[in-house]
Amino acid sequence: MTSMSAVTHIPVLLKETLEALSVQPGGRYIDGTVGAGGHAAAILDCSSPGGQLLGIDADPEAIKVATERLQAYGGSVRLVNENFVNLQAICFRYDFYPVHGILFDLGLSSLQLSDQSRGFSFQHDAPLDMRFSPSQEVTAADIINTYSEAEIAHLIRTYGEEGRSRRIARHIVQQRPIETTLQLARTIQQATGGRRGRIHPATKTFQALRIAVNHELENLEAALKQAIDLLGFEGRLVVISYHSLEDRIVKRFMQQESRADEPRLRLINKKVITPSEAEIQLNPRSHSAKLRAAERIANQCEQHVVVKEFIVSREIDAGGWRRPGLLKKLRRAFVMP
Ligand SMILES: C[S@@+](CC[C@H](N)C(=O)[O-])C[C@H]1O[C@@H](n2cnc3c(N)ncnc32)[C@H](O)[C@@H]1O
Repeated sequence: MTSMSAVTHIPVLLKETLEALSVQPGGRYIDGTVGAGGHAAAILDCSSPGGQLLGIDADPEAIKVATERLQAYGGSVRLVNENFVNLQAICFRYDFYPVHGILFDLGLSSLQLSDQSRGFSFQHDAPLDMRFSPSQEVTAADIINTYSEAEIAHLIRTYGEEGRSRRIARHIVQQRPIETTLQLARTIQQATGGRRGRIHPATKTFQALRIAVNHELENLEAALKQAIDLLGFEGRLVVISYHSLEDRIVKRFMQQESRADEPRLRLINKKVITPSEAEIQLNPRSHSAKLRAAERIANQCEQHVVVKEFIVSREIDAGGWRRPGLLKKLRRAFVMP
């Protein structure tokens, strides 16, 4: 097994991420996919003095690496080993809201891809696991060996956007049990008649399995909805995705929220941001990255509530009442710290 810390993970679109987050000294940020802590360290540097960061990752190994990497930032950083599907509950638990910015850098880290025991890649033979966290129950082997042929074909077509899904599913079912990455890659190669073009024929099926094992698309949708309520006004939401299914969800979400009758977001970059040729040369993993960013705005209804509550609190003050709880609630909900 390759040690996780022996491999370096280069943060993707780093400069663009910091700009899109509009990181400022004293700001409060959430990194929903802290990984090896590359983006997190840069956010902490730029938000110094006084910046704070809550870093979340479902993978306990990533949290170990990030803990080591971010040790120097002491009390400015809190790391949590949980799934970002619970984003709001985590922030409420640690009283970490409203925030100036939230980052999701989706998918896998180089550490996970190069870890020979996790089964994310067919570059090395490993058990078909693919779970971000060992606390999840279903592995890729469970799906491959227990789902029906039709279910496997559907999954490969939907999450892998693979045109040869039926043929691949038929071969998988014929070859079962399949326990390792190389066994699966070989089965797919037989089903498809080998490599056509630059992409290995197993690439899309591996992507589909990983998405299914980790409920990646459902979790992303749920987290985006929660993120919006955690942002203070003018707080930034930044998402880096690595395949079209993820990017479609992010694009639709930001568009809907910015075009609604009562919009809660304003798009920062109308056109998606992608890495330069130089970055791709330096870090080939970045080639499919797409960054989208939006800013939280107050819709009319929220503005109305702020004004009304403010008036009420002033009236209460005028009557000699002190309502620190109400004021604190107002400050929390509507004013940046
Ligand atoms: C591309 S890496 C992040 C790398 C990080 N930005 C850095 O600079 O080191 C993605 C990370 O997100 C984590 N992840 C993916 N989906 C997650 C989820 N639903 N909840 C929590 N963490 C998740 C993965 O475990 C992985 O460590």
